[in-house]
Amino acid sequence: MINYTLKQLYSFEAVVRTKSFTRASKELFVTQPAVYMQIQQLTKNIGADLINTKGKTVTPTYIGKMFYQTCIDVIDTLEKSKLDIDQTLDPEAGHLQIAVATTTNSFVSHILAKFKKKYPRMSFYLDVTNRESLLKKLDNNEADLIIMGEPPTDMPLITQPFMENPLIAIAHPEHPLLKNQKNTIKNLTNETLITREQGSGTRITIERIIGMQLNSDIEINSNEAIIQAVQAGLGIGFVSKHTVKLELENNVIKQLNIDKFPITRHWYVVHHSKNKLSPIAERFKKFIVENS
Ligand code: PGA
Repeated sequence: MINYTLKQLYSFEAVVRTKSFTRASKELFVTQPAVYMQIQQLTKNIGADLINTKGKTVTPTYIGKMFYQTCIDVIDTLEKSKLDIDQTLDPEAGHLQIAVATTTNSFVSHILAKFKKKYPRMSFYLDVTNRESLLKKLDNNEADLIIMGEPPTDMPLITQPFMENPLIAIAHPEHPLLKNQKNTIKNLTNETLITREQGSGTRITIERIIGMQLNSDIEINSNEAIIQAVQAGLGIGFVSKHTVKLELENNVIKQLNIDKFPITRHWYVVHHSKNKLSPIAERFKKFIVENS
């Protein structure tokens, strides 16, 4: 077993870098004999001279040069790991890895902006993707927290619902079906339907509720692009009401009355039950629930 101590590594690294026992001792806040003793012990442990003691300047021997690089690597790795741990444990400065369903994009940015204002020293990575990809991330443990609709029931998850997610049908303001008080699913048979891509939670839900697979000519993997397409008169789209608030207010698109719609579900904040949340993740989870 290797019996070098961290003190020995730090002392050796400082002596070689500063080329002086005096400067190294000042940097390490210890006496010069203390540094000398650490180098002597390290030399003994390694079994070879590490420092040329002849002459005025301190230089590493051939073995010393080799070992110096190892010291730098070990110290760098340890310092980085300490930084990561400190950031994770310090709720004001931690790092969050969040993955969210494409559809949540419209409100998650607002929640994150408020949270960042409260904890300015925190940092985050936001991954915006569809349901299928979120499920893979859950499986591979690739995010601290995931925000999605309808978490799977066959995985060991901790899930917390926090906000309603109404799915609606939208149409161009001059669409003939808008004249009907109530349309049935049958009324859609001859319409051009614009759907999200395979693997989207929005699409899966709509197919389940209307009881058939959407055989759509137009598949678009972005809610924003679906809204634009509906606005352009391309067909009828299905989106979460959250993504379309402004367009409805400005009457550039209309909500279509169809039997079984709006489909009301919830958003959930989700993580693996075997993962202990970091303090910042814990706070963010609480913040989402309280601020949405
Ligand atoms: P999606 O997910 O962005 O994959 O459609 C949203 C949802 O599950 O409702």
